[in-house]
Amino acid sequence: MSGPSPAELAAAAAALRQARDVAVLTGAGISAESGIPTFREALTGLWERYRPEALATPEGFLRDPQLVWAWYRARRQAIAGAKPNPGHHALVAIERRVPRFTLITQNVDGLHRQAGHRELIELHGNIERVKCFDCGRAPAAFDDPEAVPRCARCGGLLRPDVVWFGEMLPERAIARAQDAAQRCDLFLSVGTSNVVEPAASLPWIAARRGATVLVVNITDSGQQIGPHIHHLLGRSGEVLPALVAAAWPDATTGRPA
Ligand code: OAD
Repeated sequence: MSGPSPAELAAAAAALRQARDVAVLTGAGISAESGIPTFREALTGLWERYRPEALATPEGFLRDPQLVWAWYRARRQAIAGAKPNPGHHALVAIERRVPRFTLITQNVDGLHRQAGHRELIELHGNIERVKCFDCGRAPAAFDDPEAVPRCARCGGLLRPDVVWFGEMLPERAIARAQDAAQRCDLFLSVGTSNVVEPAASLPWIAARRGATVLVVNITDSGQQIGPHIHHLLGRSGEVLPALVAAAWPDATTGRPA
């Protein structure tokens, strides 16, 4: 993949350097280079190979909790060995250099936190956490036994604390994300197909308020967001460090020592 031209990179870097308030939305693409499969890419995407209605809906869970747990256990194991990549580290470098920064992610893999972000908005939950399907409480401890685990308080089934199809997003998380999109002067969208609402509307909210939109993706299909848009075509693990280096030539974006 050739990546953005020097002129495209320089224009995006200039916008980033001038920005006072940056909102970033990430999707599965930013973790692809950490070895975590995305959802909608032909052949390799999770939803190309598995049925979301069986594995990621409340109805599917109640029908066959054992199957859903087996799938999430396999995903948790795959994620447990994954490490943040240079794209994640570059976002930490941006956070350190702009006056105001909000990171919003659709990912449940915890890699942004591992990279060093203390504050972030996890719109779709976190695969490491569990909660009770019935009473909603999170257990104090969870040691992931083989069977379908149960809530110590009410006896209900425990489930992964992620958002499934047909479920509402955590109210506070989406309110904070919408607020950041309305307020920001630069919106950076990284590695998302931008089709799942309400996250998909966030860059449009920002664009309607006049924010510059930067889109980092390996494809530019379906990403024509607003008039002030810069497409940076390429892998986020390469494009984001290049963007940081172009915006702040003295920056180091590698893993913190
Ligand atoms: P998708 O799988 O829909 O999209 C991944 C995007 O990342 C695509 O646009 C790819 O072109 C792009 N991509 C892949 N590799 C990349 C790389 N190395 N660098 C940059 N871009 C790359 O994933 P999401 O948009 O995150 O929700 O999907 C949104 C939601 O749909 C997920 O959070 C999940 C799923 O159903 C729930 O489970 C609730």
